[in-house]
Amino acid sequence: MKVKFILNGRNRVFDVKPGEFLLETLRSNHITSVKNGCNESSCGACSVLLDGKPILSCSLLTLRVEGHRVTTVEGVQEEIELISHYFGDEGADQCGFCNSGLALTAYALKRELVNPTDEDIKKYVVGNLCRCSGYQAQFEAIKRYVRNEK
Ligand code: FES
Ligand code: FES
Repeated sequence: MKVKFILNGRNRVFDVKPGEFLLETLRSNHITSVKNGCNESSCGACSVLLDGKPILSCSLLTLRVEGHRVTTVEGVQEEIELISHYFGDEGADQCGFCNSGLALTAYALKRELVNPTDEDIKKYVVGNLCRCSGYQAQFEAIKRYVRNEK
């Protein structure tokens, strides 16, 4: 069956199976920044933006995104590079498996919350797990990014 949605600013049509999840649709169409960490809504590695809000693509049927906007890191590359700079600067880069999902979540956070507190930031990114870090370096990087600190 055909599903139409806007992927990274472009109108696209995808041929999908009835029970197919968005993660599979994206990865099978060369959007490999979206990772399959657990495939059961527990890790955040598959995060993408749906109409600007982070969602878990492993648990959303592709049929449900008909007509909506889906954004992956490929669609906001410049901003993701800026976030990556903060990750690197804070020593938050390790294996990198969680980076795409976390960076997209940070991107959405910056656009959704005005002057977020430390608690707001922690709450917003709580679903993005990282098996390598102790989270503090990532938290510092995201805090500097959302507050436009140098
Ligand atoms: S792969 Fe979707 S939450 Fe882990
Ligand atoms: S850096 Fe390895 S999972 Fe986060």
